[in-house]
Amino acid sequence: MTNELIYSGKAKDLFKTENEDELLVVYKDQATALNGKRKEMFPGKGELNCNISTIIFDYLIKNGIKTHVIKNISEHEQLIKKTEVIPLEVVLRNRVSGSLARKFDLIDGETLETPIIEFYFKSDKLDDPFINDSQVLALGIATQSEIDYVKNQALKINDLLVKFFADKQLDLIDFKLEFGRLDNEIILVDEFSPDNCRLWDQTSHNSLDKDIFRQKKGDLVETYQKVLDRLTAK
Ligand code: TMP
Repeated sequence: MTNELIYSGKAKDLFKTENEDELLVVYKDQATALNGKRKEMFPGKGELNCNISTIIFDYLIKNGIKTHVIKNISEHEQLIKKTEVIPLEVVLRNRVSGSLARKFDLIDGETLETPIIEFYFKSDKLDDPFINDSQVLALGIATQSEIDYVKNQALKINDLLVKFFADKQLDLIDFKLEFGRLDNEIILVDEFSPDNCRLWDQTSHNSLDKDIFRQKKGDLVETYQKVLDRLTAK
């Protein structure tokens, strides 16, 4: 029996399982840019991201962060807890890059005085617009205590991951997180992979993330494999 597809995203598909509290995630080989307007297939990308995200989520779980991951079913499939996803992309930035550099005409790589946390409203139709705290509150997307909790978790996760990646000679420039509600708690959902963060080699400052695809500056699968190799190196 094939599972029922309930959501097809840009990088992952979500299926129902026999257990109504659990979902199956299948990582796809597709990469998209410009909110899906540019699409390409990269055989092996799904497996790489599933493996990279698993290593990072395992590390976060070991350090007290609650997540939706239950277990991996194969190299590109995961069983996860079903949550009520909060429709916000939570972006945290340690250094200037991407849309921040463009918006304020800043130099790529400049260090920030403090990390920046930004919210974007998850909507393909609207191209995920920026949304501020008072809009999140007024539109009933999250309560003030939920906003505070999510920001706090993002900062905690940042502290953990900056150290984790530095140990692998990688600088964590910025990243995107998503959260979901489950049993009166907010837990980390989605994935953490080079698709949704910027990682720079500490020496060369070369990108080891999806900027390779966005800026057409290298081989995506080769680059993601390099990230996995660093994470698994003894
Ligand atoms: P940005 O510089 O394009 O705003 O992206 C900031 C970080 O958030 C970067 O690591 C990529 C990630 N991100 C996503 O994962 N999904 C998105 O839809 C966006 C806009 C950014």
